[in-house]
Amino acid sequence: MAYVISICNQKGGVGKTTTCLNLGAYLAILGRRVLIIDFDSQANATVGLGLDYQKINKNVYHLILNLADFREVIYRARIFSLDLIPSSPDLIGAQVELNNLPMKETILFQKVNQIRNHYHYILIDLPPSLGLLTINGLVASDKVIIPIQAEFFALEGLKQLITTINLIKRNLGKNIEILGALLTLYDKRNRLNRLVLKNIRRSFPGYVFETVIPKNIDLAESPSFGKTILEYSPSSKGAKAYLNLAKEVINLLEKNISSNNLNNLAKN
Ligand SMILES: Nc1ncnc2c1ncn2[C@@H]1O[C@H](COP(=O)(O)OP(=O)(O)OP(=O)(O)O)[C@@H](O)[C@H]1O
Ligand SMILES: [Mg+2]
Repeated sequence: MAYVISICNQKGGVGKTTTCLNLGAYLAILGRRVLIIDFDSQANATVGLGLDYQKINKNVYHLILNLADFREVIYRARIFSLDLIPSSPDLIGAQVELNNLPMKETILFQKVNQIRNHYHYILIDLPPSLGLLTINGLVASDKVIIPIQAEFFALEGLKQLITTINLIKRNLGKNIEILGALLTLYDKRNRLNRLVLKNIRRSFPGYVFETVIPKNIDLAESPSFGKTILEYSPSSKGAKAYLNLAKEVINLLEKNISSNNLNNLAKN
């Protein structure tokens, strides 16, 4: 059964998609079967894996509205054992259409449940808002990773998101755990960045990843080539950071599983 992890922050441009793609790539290279669900109408994760959403017939929009089944929407990435369910601007309309459906918050949860035994990890890339798509993504998830840019208002945003997650837990009875906040776009020469990192570690002890993602030009360039950092620049600082993140996630989630079981998991 896959761990379902959403990558979430209502703030835009904090590195959600970059994290989803590159964490996914390294989990796959470390032997895990990984599915990325692009659940943002901007389709950045889709483009970042080299797919042209205009040439794709059916995507996550069709899946959640029962207009397509999984076989029609799962695409193989170039990296072995990494799959993607693409998005497109079609998804803008879904927000309105979902509103008319019963159980509108749990549509993605129901879909994900149908395939979670095919993967070790399902990563959901969420849009920069707290609307119905994000709520669907959170409800479908067991865990949340919150990428944070080390700036002055970061803590406020983090508190808002934690409140939203607690509301969902209370109102929908779904257990969602924050796996960790991930500092992204980090520049260690910047005093404010260092200060924010210190504050976040102090305010949320045990909930901040050891791994910090540096600001790195290769990470910024790679999506324009439709490549993950693993394919574009595997020896860059950004690549090393995402490899470390993947190892940290594996340690956090799989440490209760004996290495024997893990090997079996990887073989299946
Ligand atoms: N560590 C990094 N170093 C340099 N550039 C980065 C890094 N992480 C992300 N970027 C760049 O910053 C921009 C925003 O990143 P990304 O798209 O991952 O954020 P996002 O949170 O998914 O944005 P949105 O909220 O719009 O979905 C992109 O141009 C991306 O290439
Ligand atoms: Mg994004």
